[in-house]
Amino acid sequence: MSKTISGFSKLSKSEKIDWIVSSCFSNASYAKGILKQYWNTDEQLQQLHDEFIENTITNYYLPLGVAPNFLINEKMYTIPMAIEESSVVAAASKAAKFWLDRGGFKARVISTKKIGQVHFMFYGEFEALKRFFDIVKPKLIAGARHITANMEKRGGGIFDIELRDKTNDIKGYYQLHASFETLDAMGANFINSCLEQFAQTFKKEAFNFEAFTDEERQIDIVMSILSNYVPECLVRAEVSCPVENLSENASISGEAFAKKFVQAVNIAEVEPYRAVTHNKGIMNGVDAVVLATGNDFRAIEAGVHAYASRNGKYSSLSHAEIKDGIFRFWMDIPLALGTIGGLTGLHPLVKLSLELLHQPSAKELMQIVAVAGLAQNFAALRSLTTTGIQQGHMKMHLLNILNQFGANDKEKQTLTEHFKSTPVTHGAVVEALNKLRN
Ligand code: MEV
Repeated sequence: MSKTISGFSKLSKSEKIDWIVSSCFSNASYAKGILKQYWNTDEQLQQLHDEFIENTITNYYLPLGVAPNFLINEKMYTIPMAIEESSVVAAASKAAKFWLDRGGFKARVISTKKIGQVHFMFYGEFEALKRFFDIVKPKLIAGARHITANMEKRGGGIFDIELRDKTNDIKGYYQLHASFETLDAMGANFINSCLEQFAQTFKKEAFNFEAFTDEERQIDIVMSILSNYVPECLVRAEVSCPVENLSENASISGEAFAKKFVQAVNIAEVEPYRAVTHNKGIMNGVDAVVLATGNDFRAIEAGVHAYASRNGKYSSLSHAEIKDGIFRFWMDIPLALGTIGGLTGLHPLVKLSLELLHQPSAKELMQIVAVAGLAQNFAALRSLTTTGIQQGHMKMHLLNILNQFGANDKEKQTLTEHFKSTPVTHGAVVEALNKLRN
């Protein structure tokens, strides 16, 4: 069990490490060695990483891979992916290649509206509150002009502010429900600053509003915060081709494959247990690109899964059909992404990833990320409905198992060759490695 400590954040980095290794590890020098092994030798770069968060003691590496050959709206991309799960990048690359020969991916942004709310309590007459809101609304917008001026110059800003009556859910509960256009910024800081300004203006104006009673004047602001639920910040990605073009080899006809594929999607549309795993596969692609490009994957995850439940039942994000001999597979997904601000101008690998994507606008990045998600879903369903998932997955996992048992380069080479024609299972790998070593 860890000991308690006060004033930890005030210690220097090496004092923090000393405290941790001496109070939490039986082998302090071993623990310290591992932590230091991951420090960057470039002190400036290390300091940059130290300062991203508080109490940094080392760096946590994830591989950054690339999936080439993505044709999206007639433009070629090599997509950066930061992810630890073996087979995700390989699956994306395979799907990219498959669709490259069949017209590529199409993607379009449907809408880019983001939401923020001021939650407050008011116990007077709704009519009085409504009259006050109508009068004060232009003042809310004007009062935030010092925050919105630059965004407005570039074509963004506040779309609207609505008063929402939530008293059916909680007595006295109302919202200022505001919508924003934040262009190439994810916009969290912009939206939160606007909301806190709205709250301040709202409270001050209420206090001076003559038609209110003394009690009504005391509007109680509970909190002001953006919403990560962005059902109107939506992008569509899709692929389509004649059914007969879907076949790659003689083992399954295009028609049989398309039928099975659509059935698999239909199951995820109606069955939540399957839908969660189906969507998890989509998020393998989405999160990897979101992370590589310095965006907030927790926000994306929260928003996407809420969207998947928007009709009251958790369901598949993607859909598929066969119509007039054409197979179509598509997905609408909410993605509030930024290509300026946040980590995008700070983390060297994020900057590199954005350069690899030719410095996309936020809208273009939404399209790329949605395509990565759809490609991942296609690859997973294709394996699941034909060979099964384990064959490809275990092939990619082979090196992890070999590394776990400390295989050297020669052993890895021999066994990778051996398992090209033999099914990979944990037991089979261990047995083959032992045999080789004996
Ligand atoms: C594994 O990370 C993702 C899959 O389970 C997705 C799916 O089942 O569709 C393969």
